[in-house]
Amino acid sequence: MPIIETEIPANELVFGHPKGLYVCFFTEMWERFSFYGMKALLFLYLVKYHLFTDEYGYNLLGAYGALVYALPVVGGLIADRYLGMRKAVIFGASLLVMGHFGMAFEGHAASKVSGEIVRDTQALQIFYFSLSLIIMGVGFLKPNISTIVGKLYPQNDPRRDSGFTLFYAGINLGAWIAPLICGYLGETYGWKYGFGLAGIGMLAGLIVFIKGQKYLHGHAESAHPERLKEKRFGLATEYWIYLLAILSLTLVWGLLQKHSVSLQIVSWLPSVSPVIWLLHSITLILAIGIGWFMIKYCNKAERQQMMALIVIIFAGLLFFGLYEQTYSSWVAMSDRVMDRSMLGTELSASQLTALGAFFILVLTPFFTWLWPYLDARKINPSTPLKMAIGLFFAGLAFLVLVWATHSSGANGLISVWFLVLAYFVLEIGEMTLSPISLSAVTQLSVKRVVSLMMGAWFLGTSYSEILAAELSKLAALATDAGKVSDVAFAIGKYETLFIFSAKIGFVTAIVFLILVPLMKKWMHGIH
Ligand code: PHE
Repeated sequence: MPIIETEIPANELVFGHPKGLYVCFFTEMWERFSFYGMKALLFLYLVKYHLFTDEYGYNLLGAYGALVYALPVVGGLIADRYLGMRKAVIFGASLLVMGHFGMAFEGHAASKVSGEIVRDTQALQIFYFSLSLIIMGVGFLKPNISTIVGKLYPQNDPRRDSGFTLFYAGINLGAWIAPLICGYLGETYGWKYGFGLAGIGMLAGLIVFIKGQKYLHGHAESAHPERLKEKRFGLATEYWIYLLAILSLTLVWGLLQKHSVSLQIVSWLPSVSPVIWLLHSITLILAIGIGWFMIKYCNKAERQQMMALIVIIFAGLLFFGLYEQTYSSWVAMSDRVMDRSMLGTELSASQLTALGAFFILVLTPFFTWLWPYLDARKINPSTPLKMAIGLFFAGLAFLVLVWATHSSGANGLISVWFLVLAYFVLEIGEMTLSPISLSAVTQLSVKRVVSLMMGAWFLGTSYSEILAAELSKLAALATDAGKVSDVAFAIGKYETLFIFSAKIGFVTAIVFLILVPLMKKWMHGIH
């Protein structure tokens, strides 16, 4: 179907936005519900139920996170060239439903038999396969549902920005509620209940999308429907795509299990895990493609804008490298050395990850007011300055935690209020950096390669996941099913990690600050 570029008819609007926006809002809300509900539990599940070491848990989280955000690069391209967004979302959501329900199959808990740990290897294979389904599912769903939001509005429609703000709120609504409920169920009644609820959430997302797809009015259809029908070796291209994606699951399944293996491909390069090799390969291909495009097809101004965008993607990589520790080292720390009682109740470590999305929701109205307010007074910081500010706040959040490690109470534990404050500070950073860097992608990129550059942004966050895992490992502890025997020693380890992370935030903030004048020049009038 053709892309419709006309005004949206009044009977299609709800609160000033096309009905399709609400379809995307609720689909993505449920998708993020399942995603973050599961992620909140993942590290604790590995360490407490399957009795893996901290290193193993962090490595797996890193590999999983890296693949989850690397595949959207491919998923976005496939939808662009062949499938169209609607079909990609339905396919991705179906894989996600299976993946999340698969996670609910926990098998037997690991046990120690005469000093040796015995694990349910069969259940672990199902676990890895479920994670692969989630990775592939996110790859098809995540980039495309956001693209649909953009397509619902005619060119230059001023409502698009507020549409995206609403959509981001949907993401965070899911990310806020999920850890509270899935975390509670998982840690109180049994892991499978937490993971199972995530599956139910994803099923709700799939149903919402299937029922609501009619409101997308053809905006999310393939731009080349004839390509989909084209037969290759007797099978239509569309089915080849599904088939190849399903076959590739085995590759992801294998890669994921090698998260702690180091691979030396050539002697002069460091040995890293196969997942990191994959990331490097995708980066190399992307870099060659983008580099060639910049040299061949861009004029000087466009080339400089693209360079500015690449620097911004780096800022995102560093910021989320610090940020993503909230699901690894922050969870471990809150579980082990924190007095988590607050306001008469006690939240579990996984539940506390809800604080991130909670503060985003709280801060959104403030920031929606702040930027136009500063703009009107001509003191709105430029995009590169906002990158520096975001990184500074990430550093500051870790500094709050350093302070926390020096302020344990009479029981030797850290008060949960430090974590609340750290999240609050971190989210100021996210609100300053993340939406602005995403909008910079759409503004600075040459139009023809926007999806590719969005892919590059996602690839940046892939590396963030690896960075977060590597950093967390600085505070890997020997535990007994997640329990530490020496709390003071553990706090000391976390302190070292937090000091180092804070330094990364502050030093990179200074580097980006120094780059501001050059970046402004490169951006040629885009703020
Ligand atoms: N937290 C947001 C989301 O889940 C933004 C984000 C995307 C952050 C990808 C990191 C990586 O959509």
